[in-house]
Amino acid sequence: MSELPNSTMTVPIIQSMKNQRKLVMLTAYDHTMAKLLDQHADILLVGDTLGCVVQGDQTTLGVTLEQMCYHAAMVKRGAQNALVVADLPFGSYQSSASDAIQAAIRLIKETGVSAVKLEGGGGSLAAIEQISRAGIPVMGHLGLTPQSYHSMGGNKVQGKTQSAAQKLLEEAKAVEAAGAFSLVLEAIPADLAKIITQALSIPTIGIGAGSDCDGQVLVINDMIGLNQNQAPMRFNKEYCAVRKMITKAAQQYASEVRDGSFPCPQYSYL
Ligand code: KIV
Repeated sequence: MSELPNSTMTVPIIQSMKNQRKLVMLTAYDHTMAKLLDQHADILLVGDTLGCVVQGDQTTLGVTLEQMCYHAAMVKRGAQNALVVADLPFGSYQSSASDAIQAAIRLIKETGVSAVKLEGGGGSLAAIEQISRAGIPVMGHLGLTPQSYHSMGGNKVQGKTQSAAQKLLEEAKAVEAAGAFSLVLEAIPADLAKIITQALSIPTIGIGAGSDCDGQVLVINDMIGLNQNQAPMRFNKEYCAVRKMITKAAQQYASEVRDGSFPCPQYSYL
């Protein structure tokens, strides 16, 4: 049974699920997909991966706050049950904590989402602290942080050396202490994710971080096999191949239009 009971998720409910049952998170970028996923996910993330999977860029760096607001409002309209969280895009929170609060307030006011997500440890702690203090729940994000694409030298697995692992553990504790209500761990060794998960009292949500996190997230376009541009990371599991279904349908439609068999009388007003 994969459907969830018909109840609205809140931040306290999500937090109370740590050590009770696994959290299910998926990304969504529009109303149609949000409606399809709403009964099956605890959290819908309007991720800035929209820059890659919707806009066709190589990185998330070009996504604007305006665009996040546009997509987050559509997702929120399609979600009756899941908690909707929206990413603060690159450039909207790095320069100062007051910029960060302004950006978070705008996302909440204009879209109705319940929480924001932002990336990073040390440099993001003031933003996490002040946004949380303003009453806006913050989801942290450590490990592979795609907004640091250039300093990481690409989308690479993080925390592989002992010192990098230790740093990530310290950062995770600091993110929790700053007030985050949950934490995404992306592309880090499974045993490190387990240690971090056990060290925190907030839920961790893994993507490429093994099975011991408190929940899992996948990018919906990768999960349904829709992308054709970039090879998905090793951690993605394609649960179906929508790309192939669309290609087949488009081929059949084109051939029927060209040979005149569509529309037949069944699809015409007679
Ligand atoms: O932007 C996004 O979709 C994300 C997930 C990959 C966690 O941050």
